[in-house]
Amino acid sequence: MFTGDADHAATNRRIRTERRDEIHAEDTNLLRGETLLLRPPVEADVEFAYSWDRDPELAAWNGRSPIKSSLSAARRDYLARWRDRSVKTFIIEVDDEPSGMATLYDFRKGGCELGIKIGPSSLRNHGYASEAVELLVDYALYTLDLAVVRGSTLSHNRRMQRVFEKLGFVEVGEGSILSRYDNRRYIEIFYERRR
Ligand SMILES: CC(C)(COP(=O)(O)OP(=O)(O)OC[C@H]1O[C@@H](n2cnc3c(N)ncnc32)[C@H](O)[C@@H]1OP(=O)(O)O)[C@@H](O)C(=O)NCCC(=O)NCCS
Repeated sequence: MFTGDADHAATNRRIRTERRDEIHAEDTNLLRGETLLLRPPVEADVEFAYSWDRDPELAAWNGRSPIKSSLSAARRDYLARWRDRSVKTFIIEVDDEPSGMATLYDFRKGGCELGIKIGPSSLRNHGYASEAVELLVDYALYTLDLAVVRGSTLSHNRRMQRVFEKLGFVEVGEGSILSRYDNRRYIEIFYERRR
């Protein structure tokens, strides 16, 4: 799917980057794919983010516990994070509905880290993460002019590994991670996609 310069050019033609007056619109673009839109979060997204962060299955895939804080405390945290200009958060919108979240963060050494989740389980395995990661990689490498996008996932997360591999990420190592979901140790696999 992601096979070189011709594909980059096609992707670049497809992506329309626009400016928008949202929470941190000063430096976050709107990225449009064929079936989804990546846009900056707005206050109306808080309840979606909260429901995803309370979902035990999503928490387990991320090695976290589901959040226990109240909606109002979570709202304060989300809004602060979404205004933080050192992190770029995108809501994945499918058919005008918030359907997941992707984040570019930990900007250092000419690169950044990418994280993604598709919120409703019924929307997983429909190609949305593949499309979103392709847009984000293009944005990070060719709009932000970074040299590398990094990612990681648990060794039993075959779906996420497949998404990274399809999009040209290569495995660069592995480590051991203590999951705060169940207090067990898991293998984490690290990936990189270089320009
Ligand atoms: C992981 C996640 C982001 C992937 O998003 P998605 O939209 O479901 O992924 P896509 O549909 O774009 O691609 C999934 C790929 O994995 C493949 N796949 C699914 N289950 C698989 C399995 N058990 N083994 C191997 N490949 C598998 C699919 O066939 C597809 O590949 P293909 O396009 O070549 O057919 C999403 O499923 C999710 O949010 N999961 C829960 C949270 C999570 O794991 N987040 C990542 C933490 S690092």
